[in-house]
Amino acid sequence: MSQSHNKSSAEELLQEIAALKEERHAVIIAHNYQPPEIQDLADHVGDSLELSRLAAKTDARVIVFCGVKFMAETAAILSPDKTVLLPAREAGCTLADCATAGRIREMKQKYPGALVVTYVNSSVEVKAESDICCTSANAVDVVKSVDPSKQIIFAPDYNLGHYVSKVTNRRMILWDGCCPTHAALSTSGVEKAREKWPKAIFMMHPECKPAALELADYVGSTSAMIRYAKQQPDGTEFIVGTEGGLLHKLEKENPGKVFHVASDFLVCPMMKMISLGDVRDSLKKMQFVISVPETIRVKARAAVEAMLL
Ligand code: 13P
Repeated sequence: MSQSHNKSSAEELLQEIAALKEERHAVIIAHNYQPPEIQDLADHVGDSLELSRLAAKTDARVIVFCGVKFMAETAAILSPDKTVLLPAREAGCTLADCATAGRIREMKQKYPGALVVTYVNSSVEVKAESDICCTSANAVDVVKSVDPSKQIIFAPDYNLGHYVSKVTNRRMILWDGCCPTHAALSTSGVEKAREKWPKAIFMMHPECKPAALELADYVGSTSAMIRYAKQQPDGTEFIVGTEGGLLHKLEKENPGKVFHVASDFLVCPMMKMISLGDVRDSLKKMQFVISVPETIRVKARAAVEAMLL
């Protein structure tokens, strides 16, 4: 009885959202880590880079961003003429909170002439102090594009910076921040998963710790993992070393392949905050609007656009 009630209320919510979306001329975009029902509802699902590009070119009047605050802020930076809504006000990012604009300014004073390359998992104020942003999908290319004679301050993710430094063979001044979800994947966790599924290909996100990454078969952004898995033959088994939300798309797009999340710890609570009811309320009440002060936005935009070129 309660199950059929839940089903009909979910269907009612979906209908309500569809009607409100049309009325508001809205587009719903969702990150690959969002809960399955949010991914299924969204017009576009992708990684940080894909979603930034979408936010820059959409002609919708309203962008409902199902992700976390820094992602919605990036959309607001790129589309100041649109209303950007984050359906769960509290959906932040612990990694983004590891850097402040004040500390970036101190680092710039300490290393005059150094270029600041900032992971998009950062606040708009930090982006405004940066020369160029990057995501996990383009970090290697962004660092390669920097004049070799320049020093680079890479913030705020130490693990991604370490990985990029290794791939590009370039020394960088690394920030000390990390994503607690990815950092929870230890080498013993990797070994345990390998023992459990010995034939599986181990894919990992570059936010994992360097020692864990050493043990990976493939390293890439969330969408890079999706593309890689698609290229493998049916029957292939995978262990996924990133936030568990990615399994929804992987399984949906690869019915002939098997996916295991590497550890039960790979859950980002911030990414699980948005419900269908929140999406409905966000469109109904036009909440929670993400806006960025114009002077900061203009500076942050230059750093974000530099990576989109
Ligand atoms: P992607 O850009 O790979 O989707 O990663 C986003 C993120 O926040 C990882 O924790």
